[in-house]
Amino acid sequence: MSNRTFTMIKPDATAKGYTGAILDQIIKGGFKVVALKWTKLTKEQAGAFYEVHKERPFYGELVDFMSSGQIIAAILEKDNAVADFRTLIGATNPADAAEGTIRKNFASSIGENAVHGSDSDENAKIEGDFFFSKLERF
Ligand code: RTP
Ligand code: MG
Repeated sequence: MSNRTFTMIKPDATAKGYTGAILDQIIKGGFKVVALKWTKLTKEQAGAFYEVHKERPFYGELVDFMSSGQIIAAILEKDNAVADFRTLIGATNPADAAEGTIRKNFASSIGENAVHGSDSDENAKIEGDFFFSKLERF
């Protein structure tokens, strides 16, 4: 069990002005922000980040969406960070997400679902390293 995970606030949520409310829910959920960046991905960068999904039917749509607007990238710290953050954000499809979760509160569809959360300790490390140099975190 590692104590860090990685998140993005996705372009649908930044465009709707939900960034502050989502960060507030993350921090109130007990996560400490150890690195944070407000940026925009190129198609190439989004394609590389989501390379694991390359064979999935939604890959092209996902890459277009994730490069369509501003995102927030962050490394978060908490005991049992990966699993607890997946609980905080809720199911991939907001229609299935539990009441009070970030996706239930802020997501509009399975594709445009407001936030990303790493699915394993190994991927949390890879994804954090994708966005942040050693100088940009503590
Ligand atoms: P994420 O990686 O973004 O935290 O989401 P997740 O683990 O809950 O879901 P995953 O299966 O890893 O899918 C990655 C992202 O691809 C988009 N997606 N679209 N149209 C579709 O059927 C579909 N399925 C997935 C979502 O943006 C999902 O978060
Ligand atoms: Mg995933």
